[in-house]
Amino acid sequence: MIRLQNVSKKYRKGGFFAKSDFWALKGISVEINPGEHVGIIGESGAGKTTLGRILSLIELPTDGLVEIENTTATKKNLRKLRKYIAAVFQDPGTSLDPLFRVVNTLKETGASMQRIMEVTANLNIRPELLQKYPSQLSGGEQQRIAIARAILSDPTYIILDEATSALDVSTQAKIMNLLCDLNASKRYAYVFISHDLSLANFISDRIYVMHGGSIVEEYDVQEKPLHPYTISLLKGTGKPIRKKHSGCFFYEQCPSRTEKCKKETPQLIELGKHKKVRCFLYD
Ligand SMILES: Nc1ncnc2c1ncn2[C@@H]1O[C@H](COP(=O)(O)OP(=O)(O)OP(=O)(O)O)[C@@H](O)[C@H]1O
Ligand SMILES: [Mg+2]
Repeated sequence: MIRLQNVSKKYRKGGFFAKSDFWALKGISVEINPGEHVGIIGESGAGKTTLGRILSLIELPTDGLVEIENTTATKKNLRKLRKYIAAVFQDPGTSLDPLFRVVNTLKETGASMQRIMEVTANLNIRPELLQKYPSQLSGGEQQRIAIARAILSDPTYIILDEATSALDVSTQAKIMNLLCDLNASKRYAYVFISHDLSLANFISDRIYVMHGGSIVEEYDVQEKPLHPYTISLLKGTGKPIRKKHSGCFFYEQCPSRTEKCKKETPQLIELGKHKKVRCFLYD
């Protein structure tokens, strides 16, 4: 299991003189269990990539605990723990070696040729593409190669950060479906990071909704989400506007707001296993 406990991440912003601290993540606790499909969604700037980088053990948080398979991640063991994880980010072209034919990039994972053929076929990668260089492939093909490489490296967890967002919607859905089918035996856990809530809902078992560096809701896709913000995201309406008060970020657009929501910030309330919401309606 990957477990993040009360994780915060601080960045320094500004130029040489006017530096200020900026908290990209604030007290995040999440867990990813083996075999699970977990979605992390939220608008631009919510902190999704920052969280994805910490889940991928690319960097450590400023505060809080990161545990993987019951080992606490530290500067010393970070590299060693990365063997459990493969990450695929948005721009596949830059992650593939331009001087290597695709087949050689895939062989580098240590997988047998038989398994390479099996996984690439499952991802609809035509055999002749394996002999090409990345620059000779389309964006969608490059992305499927990057995903194939992640699978072939045989990790326990695969983190996909907007891995298919650059592609058109039908290709995106197709790749995600193939990926889920390929994992029917729950060999890996997937984390899908996306700003597209309906796609994430479609391919995940469980969703974390982020806003402003915090988790605002966690829900099982078999059940309806509760937070007015998540509901409006699902409908494709109402982005929060910059607030001028100390209360809830969604106060201005919330159909269920009260005076309390303007003055106080709600805590993340636990309503059940994998069911949490940051909203006074459920307090
Ligand atoms: N290296 C960095 N230095 C300073 N600020 C950063 C850094 N990386 C991210 N940030 C800031 O942290 C916040 C969260 O960024 P992040 O990339 O995690 O958001 P995101 O949810 O992935 O957004 P998007 O949907 O646009 O990819 C943003 O305000 C961003 O400007
Ligand atoms: Mg991002």
